[in-house]
Amino acid sequence: MHSIRSKKILAPGINEIEIDAFEIAQKAKAGQFVIVIADEKGERIPLTLAGWNPKNGTIKLIFQEVGHSTKTLAQLKLGDNIHAILGPLGKPTEIKNVGTVVCIGGGVGIAEVYPVSRAFKNEGNEVIGIIGSRSKDLIFLEKEMKDTCDQLYVTTDDGSYGQKGLVTEVLNKLFQAHKHIDVVYAIGPVPMMAAVAEYTRPLKIKTIVNLNPIMVDATGMCGACRVTVGGKTYFGCVDGPEFDGHLVDFKELRSRLNLFKEQEECLNKRCPSKNLKNG
Ligand SMILES: Cc1cc2nc3c(=O)[nH]c(=O)nc-3n(C[C@H](O)[C@H](O)[C@H](O)COP(=O)(O)OP(=O)(O)OC[C@H]3O[C@@H](n4cnc5c(N)ncnc54)[C@H](O)[C@@H]3O)c2cc1C
Ligand code: FES
Repeated sequence: MHSIRSKKILAPGINEIEIDAFEIAQKAKAGQFVIVIADEKGERIPLTLAGWNPKNGTIKLIFQEVGHSTKTLAQLKLGDNIHAILGPLGKPTEIKNVGTVVCIGGGVGIAEVYPVSRAFKNEGNEVIGIIGSRSKDLIFLEKEMKDTCDQLYVTTDDGSYGQKGLVTEVLNKLFQAHKHIDVVYAIGPVPMMAAVAEYTRPLKIKTIVNLNPIMVDATGMCGACRVTVGGKTYFGCVDGPEFDGHLVDFKELRSRLNLFKEQEECLNKRCPSKNLKNG
């Protein structure tokens, strides 16, 4: 039984839920995700483990309402049961003491970068956080990131909070100030991760990106989450979701994310379709 123990709205359309998931909470590691099926007719959607508490046997998920499944999940109330949760899945982040790590989270990626920042910090690294969103109301977990990082920069596209501009502009300022950086970790929209990788490429700074390909079974069987990295094919669910940002074919990833656009729009409008993606 995966009942919802607590529920918060962190920002418009961004929900945090804490769920009973004893086994997952014992094994979870930063960078891993779960597959969630909201109700018996639901499709399988991947969500990153934003937190876990082995003592209470609970996990935290933070998700943005973008379509049918995430909206269904958002409608569940305290005490309701989630039909199924599978995990933890994916390879955990390789957490080592490397020196200085810049952790970048864009949009809902802020939720996903938080446990990774915390793990790097706990391992003794200097952690510089950069979080960005379109506007002030979409910034969340700022306090948690501030408590975790040695320095935290906040950006908004419209300048309504923090520095006006993109997360990459802060990264560039760190480079211009000759700040020594050993690893950059980025999670967020595909164009953001691609841009981060282009900034770090000439400086040869190791850059890890956490990819979000469409996933169906999430066990390496269906091939839906295929990504090309360094000219080779990998499955995001079992080989990732983290990869070397300098080797990822972002163009292909962007185009594959649109594979089910028509069906998603159809489901969102609740119109009948002959060809909806299966859960
Ligand atoms: C490893 C991983 C971790 C993720 N973690 C988070 C998270 O912590 N919080 C969060 O808000 N989102 C996360 N996502 C994205 C999340 O899975 C999608 O937003 C969700 O599946 C959308 O489903 P929907 O039915 O609400 O929207 P739809 O209308 O079906 O789709 C909206 C968009 O979401 C993406 N999407 C749809 N179905 C899937 C799927 N089965 N797998 C992956 N992407 C899909 C596509 O880009 C699609 O265009 C993660 C994705 C991956 C691959
Ligand atoms: S989701 Fe099916 S192989 Fe990864």
